[in-house]
Amino acid sequence: MDDLERVVTALREARGVVVLTGAGVSAESGLRTFRGPDGWWRGHDPLRLATPEAFAADPALVSEWYDERRLGALAAHPNPAHIALAALERHLVAAGRRFLLVTQNVDGLHRRAGSRAVVELHGTITVWRDHRSGRRVTPPATPFASHPQPGPDGGHLRPDVVWFGEALPSAALAEAEAALGWCDLFVVVGTSAVVYPAAGLIEGAAAQGARCVEVNPEPSAANVHTRLVGRAGDLLPRLVARAFGAGSSSTQA
Ligand code: OAD
Repeated sequence: MDDLERVVTALREARGVVVLTGAGVSAESGLRTFRGPDGWWRGHDPLRLATPEAFAADPALVSEWYDERRLGALAAHPNPAHIALAALERHLVAAGRRFLLVTQNVDGLHRRAGSRAVVELHGTITVWRDHRSGRRVTPPATPFASHPQPGPDGGHLRPDVVWFGEALPSAALAEAEAALGWCDLFVVVGTSAVVYPAAGLIEGAAAQGARCVEVNPEPSAANVHTRLVGRAGDLLPRLVARAFGAGSSSTQA
């Protein structure tokens, strides 16, 4: 039996499945990853822009970068990987088994593909908030008229995402950690697995006895039992179709 067939069997037999995704799952929707070769923006390293310090020093620059990414996410479409994960959830739930999708992505594509049990560990880029009051707004799908954009309470608008050095939303992290207690299969898709606490979920799952599987064209930092080397948009639809039948990854009507 090859590794793909082993994972197919694990998907068929699992009582509870948790999937952790990163930027790689949206790469085939045309969205840039953070650490990939095309990640830099106008000579800026995204890892330096995604910080409260960068926003304090140059709110216009950070606002412009995030506005471009916000519009990119809104214009992008879920790809076969997102669609396969939504199908996987439907199959497992219909069979009375548990499923949770934990994502580090802020682009909203999992929900748009039909996934329901989604934990967004790093927030969402389509919602912004006043940096002084914290009041949230959902801006229209058009570019901001100015950078930074004035917030409703006298501050600047900033994206409702988690920046380096900021705490993750506690309810989201608690839900992800609680799932480690019931999952027996943990699938890691399209993340370099270097950002904590998200990457720590993989170690936590293994420590609690789950089988850990990675789907990624490049081996990541994650310590997993099985690596499926390839693109998420190729491998995930194949896995779901093999486990649950042909055509099982089609979009929900
Ligand atoms: P990275 O950019 O660090 O890693 C992207 C991963 O996706 C790499 O391991 C690639 O090999 C893989 N990849 C690329 N194309 C793929 C494909 N078609 N199918 C599957 N995998 C593919 O992105 P993340 O690990 O998501 O945090 O980054 C984690 C966090 O660091 C982000 O959420 C963000 C960032 O700074 C914050 O903004 C707080």
